[in-house]
Amino acid sequence: MCGIVAYLGNKNAAPVLIKGLKRLEYRGYDSAGIAVWNNGLKISKKAGKVVDLELQLTEDQLSGTVGIGHTRWATHGAPNDRNAHPHLSGNSKLAIIHNGIIENHATVKEALIRRGHRFVSDTDTEVLIHLVEEIQDNEQCPLHDAVRLALQQVTGAYAIVVISEDQPGEMIAARKGSPLVMGIGSGEFFLASDATPIAEYTKNVVYLNDGQMVRVDLDGYQILNIADNSAYTPTIHQLEISLEQLEKGGYDHFMLKEIHEQPRAIYDTLRGRLLPEEGIIRMAGLEDNLAKFINAQRIIIIACGTSWHAGLVAEYLIEDLARLPVEVEYASEFRYRNPIIRETDIVIPISQSGETADTLAAVEMAKAKGAFVFGICNVPASSIPRATHAGAYTHAGPEIGVASTKAFTTQIAILTLIATYLGYKRGTITASRYQEILFTLHHAPAKVEEALKLEKAIQEVALQYQGATNFLYLGRGVNFPIGLEGALKLKEISYIHAEGYPAAEMKHGPIALIDENMPVVVIATSHQHYDKILSNIQEVKARKGKVIAIIDKFESEIKSLADHIIEVPDADAILAPLVNVIPLQFLAYHIAVMRGCNVDQPRNLAKSVTVE
Ligand code: G6P
Repeated sequence: MCGIVAYLGNKNAAPVLIKGLKRLEYRGYDSAGIAVWNNGLKISKKAGKVVDLELQLTEDQLSGTVGIGHTRWATHGAPNDRNAHPHLSGNSKLAIIHNGIIENHATVKEALIRRGHRFVSDTDTEVLIHLVEEIQDNEQCPLHDAVRLALQQVTGAYAIVVISEDQPGEMIAARKGSPLVMGIGSGEFFLASDATPIAEYTKNVVYLNDGQMVRVDLDGYQILNIADNSAYTPTIHQLEISLEQLEKGGYDHFMLKEIHEQPRAIYDTLRGRLLPEEGIIRMAGLEDNLAKFINAQRIIIIACGTSWHAGLVAEYLIEDLARLPVEVEYASEFRYRNPIIRETDIVIPISQSGETADTLAAVEMAKAKGAFVFGICNVPASSIPRATHAGAYTHAGPEIGVASTKAFTTQIAILTLIATYLGYKRGTITASRYQEILFTLHHAPAKVEEALKLEKAIQEVALQYQGATNFLYLGRGVNFPIGLEGALKLKEISYIHAEGYPAAEMKHGPIALIDENMPVVVIATSHQHYDKILSNIQEVKARKGKVIAIIDKFESEIKSLADHIIEVPDADAILAPLVNVIPLQFLAYHIAVMRGCNVDQPRNLAKSVTVE
């Protein structure tokens, strides 16, 4: 949450910062601001989106080759101009941008107020920069020392960048618990919450570790450990993001582009791992740790949001194919409820961003209790893959739309590979079933491509139900978590209340809500207890509910019962989750567009939730 970007070089900083903030806006979009050095610190900030700031800048005209920028997801203090970042020290000589939460800000603030400091915002961030100022004044030390000493006095999470009026050619940045990447260009340096603002200028990046800070000037950079000021020599990584991946590519929204990218994304997930001609699955992270997986007593999946839904799908797949007990936990609940974790457990965190605070904290807890932790993440070199013992990237490419789509299907693709591989190695599926699944999975991108052709038909359904105030999603077996995901997509981007339920549970409550105004999306593909779901549809119809049925059988009885039929391509049961979620993504998308909602930046949400 919150995006930060900083630039030091020979370009005009403001356009670089604005472009970078637009790329980071998926992280939060309550307010935005930049500070640029040009014979003093010049600031422009504003509540609202980055475009509002951009408009303001046509008047403010900030020029200068060093600057910092921020897009905010409010935690402390309302989203207004005053609380927007950057924040200044009391003497206005230091400016800071911050992503994270300074947990002891109230105590520090009280002490600072007693010593004469006056604050203009309600943020925890302003407290930190006043503390830096005070230390610099008292100790008469260089800026980086003052920042380091201040950070030693605060608790919580942060990624910060500080610039100073007195040392204009320098940036000081630090991280603990919130991500920070440095881009090294030719005669220029970038700092950002992720690599997306950097990718078009340089491919050389350094990922800062927790507890590190960096001092950057035109001559180079120096990484130091905050605790003891010792120097650290980093590895320089090569970015693999292309500019094309960061643009909408002719689509109206990133979400729509990402829905359509799914065949390619799934292909990239499977590439080099699924080798049907050789009759094998090859995944280094699994092979290197095979004994642990073979001997495991249990798998615990931890995740949040859409990634948690992918975990639920995996529960069905792993238990069915590999006969290993699986528990799927919300990371936030897991970490705070003193869970039983044994050394024979394998913990699998699933996270698109690799930065979700609760999931990351749950990983640390699982490691501390001796479990083997195998991560499934999308963003390379993000915090979770760096904290886990081993893992696998989904290779979906950057996902910018806040509502997750291709990250979800690629998570399912990789979890299906894992379940199949484990099933084979543990001897719980036969060699012929193994080969059959490999062959089927090989066709997953093509089946999803076919499902994308349903868009027009779904648009018509969306037109009829765009005014609904509630939606129910029902499914059985693996279609239950797909229903949960469909309901989540609708809630997130169209603000229609929606709930997902196992179809049989409808009788235990939700059925009371059904009347002629209630659209009920039933995922009724043939592999998942078809007859039983048919009865559930009859129960809805008997109460005049409107049934939108996702089916895969052309001549099914459901056709005559349902109000609307969406016919997905016929696919092996193993592909059902991948194929069946596509119409639900489209339904949410088109309803949101018809309601005039901001699809890529839904209100109150952020893509990367780096606070608890
Ligand atoms: C936020 C996002 C969701 C995402 C969830 C978990 O709520 O808006 O799309 O599913 O975080 O994020 P992660 O990056 O850990 O998958």
